[in-house]
Amino acid sequence: MKNREIQIKFREFQQADLNSIDNNLVSKAVEAAKNAYAPYSHFRVGAAVLLADGSLVLGNNQENAAYPSGLCAERVALFYANANYPNTSVDTICVVVIDKDDNVIPQSVSPCGSCRQVIAETEMRYKSDIRILLVSKDSILEFKSIKDLLPLSFSQQDLLKR
Ligand code: THU
Repeated sequence: MKNREIQIKFREFQQADLNSIDNNLVSKAVEAAKNAYAPYSHFRVGAAVLLADGSLVLGNNQENAAYPSGLCAERVALFYANANYPNTSVDTICVVVIDKDDNVIPQSVSPCGSCRQVIAETEMRYKSDIRILLVSKDSILEFKSIKDLLPLSFSQQDLLKR
């Protein structure tokens, strides 16, 4: 038996440390969250996706009375980006949750497993790392790739191993 370890790296920023591009992404993610359709959870999530050509795509969570039919903000934004800009890689995805007064909540959101898997697929599709910004009231966590949030992920490579 061997003990193995996986380390993940991320950076923590204050809002004041962000450059204008990232500041804009945070603002756009907050704006997107305001349009979330979350009548069941009241948990309003916004995602702003910056593409390699500078285009911006926004998404928010879309819930459904048949709960599993809803979709998270990250996947709404990424699927829209991949559907409408199929030849453009994704540079950054910025995710935020707002409270009932439209303020960013104190804890940063932790993307669900399905969203991590979709981000991983998008990295693989475009052969390009996606920077992930998880925003909270007082700080922003930056991951340089989904590999830090979803190590040992299932991918196309696993299918080829059959
Ligand atoms: N949700 C997101 O949109 N993104 C996340 O990263 C976590 C969860 C949504 C799904 C559902 O509409 C609500 O938040 C509560 O889980």
